[in-house]
Order: sequence, then structure tokens, then C-alpha cells
Amino acid sequence: MAEPLPFTPDLSVSPVVVPFFDQPTNTISYIVKDPASDACAVVDSVMDIDYAAGRITYDGADKIIAYIREHGWRLEWLIETHVHADHLSAAPYIQTKLGGKLGIGENITIVQDTFGKIFNEGTEFQRDGSQFDRLFKDGDSYKIGGMTAHVIHTPGHTPACMTHCIGDAAFVGDTLFMPDGGSARADFPGGDARTLYRSIQRVLALPGEMRLFMCHDYGPNGRDIQWETTVADEREHNIHVGKGIGEDEFVKLRESRDATLDMPRLIIPSLQVNMRAGQLPPADDSGKTFLKVPVNTL
Ligand SMILES: [Fe+2]
Repeated sequence: MAEPLPFTPDLSVSPVVVPFFDQPTNTISYIVKDPASDACAVVDSVMDIDYAAGRITYDGADKIIAYIREHGWRLEWLIETHVHADHLSAAPYIQTKLGGKLGIGENITIVQDTFGKIFNEGTEFQRDGSQFDRLFKDGDSYKIGGMTAHVIHTPGHTPACMTHCIGDAAFVGDTLFMPDGGSARADFPGGDARTLYRSIQRVLALPGEMRLFMCHDYGPNGRDIQWETTVADEREHNIHVGKGIGEDEFVKLRESRDATLDMPRLIIPSLQVNMRAGQLPPADDSGKTFLKVPVNTL
């Protein structure tokens, strides 16, 4: 059974939500702003990488920074809904420009342990989440100006996935996709389809009119990219968990589909950077920075 919700949603607060779509990785980043003050947060920012060239740039993050500066907003939080496997986080870059605290789910430590081993990181790689300013537990809350954000643990895609509920808006990470996209894969190390189903039930237990914001959209069946829906719409129309689809049926569908999926193009650089809170690995004794490619491991 799904865990009950650890808080009472307050739909009287409606944050301003500004989406930024990153085309190369189909990621949607958001600025979430308190309507009653200048305070804002950034959810799931993206660092640009030309993997073939080993080149990192910040065009996408610079757009978010410029938007916040132009509007005179104050950045209080940088939120990662989870450790992404398909894009690199720009959170530390934005933090150096605008300040704010960087937060992720407490099970980042599990992800760090798993991928610390896969990438054979030495003891200098801390696996205690200390690269982040705040590690959220289920039921935790934090403030963005006058708004209270509530965090619910929604594992399954990864162990550290959290959904952030802020007034009438919820940022689900990869717990759900748009109704015609279904759900995200659950086959990464630490992922689990049954756990994901139960997490999704917690999201679907939010009030029907609550706005849901996705981290990814791939425009299934040739439709335009979309990122916003409601709890009621997902309950009714989601192709993987909508009305009538039970846990066992979901697990079968999810696992058979996952068996056909290739690894995300950027999984190797993404995990090495994102498990470090978006920092590159430390330079070696030549002063240069390298990313590893583990052979026949993933
Ligand atoms: Fe993800």
C-alpha cells in the first residue's frame, strides 16, 4: 500500500512557475516563485555538454540566471528532484551566481554508494551527501519566501526521488510523465517498478486540481512538448497507471518495457557529476579534469 501523505496541501497558494525546456535532453527546468514576495527556487537545472568533444557550457543555465536577475527575484533554493541519469545538473553554477541552498533527497547517500563503487571512486569521494546543503526526508518542509514547500519521498525510478509540493503545484521529477507518456523507467541500479507504482499512488492521492510539473517530455506520437497536467488528469488518463491499472499489471508492463530500453546517452557523465551535486570530479595532478567510462559495467 502507498504511504499516506505527510502533509495537508494548501491550494490557496499558487506559485508562479516559469518552465525552461532543454531540447537536447528533453528536460524541463523550472523557476518557482512566491507570488507574495521576490523569493524563488530553481528545480532541476541543466548544464550543457557536448559529450563527443568533452566540452561543458552553461547556455541553458545562463537563461535561467538572466530571467531571475531581470525580474529582480531572489534565489533561495536549488532543488534536485533526484540524481538524473540523462542530463548534468547546473545547480552549483547557478548557486555561484545567485546564491541559494542546494537540496536533494536523503537517499542520495545510497546513490553515491552505488555509483561510487561503479566508478571506483576513492575515499576522497564522500558518500554522506555532504556536497549538498540540505538532505530532505519524507514529510520535510522548507520555505520559499512565504510559501511552504512539502517534500514527499517517491522512490522507484531512483531511491532518492522526491516530489516537491508547493501550494497548488507539485514537481514530480521522473515519478510520472504526461498522461500519454506514462511513467519513467525503473531499471537503473536502486530502481524498482513496484516501489514506483506505490510512489505514484501517493502523487495521485494529492487533490485532483493540483498542478503537476514534469521533469521530462518526449512528445509521444509526434505531439508538441508539454510539461504541465493535473492530478485528476493523470488519475484518469495516464497510460501506465490511469484508472483501473493495478500494481501487478503496472509492474509487468514497466519491467517488460524497461528490458527494451537503451541506456540514456549521457548516463555516464551525468551520474559522475550529479552524484557530486553537479560538480565535476576533482582535477588530477596535471590540473586537468577527466570523466571516466567504466567498460562493461553499467
Ligand atoms: Fe531521471
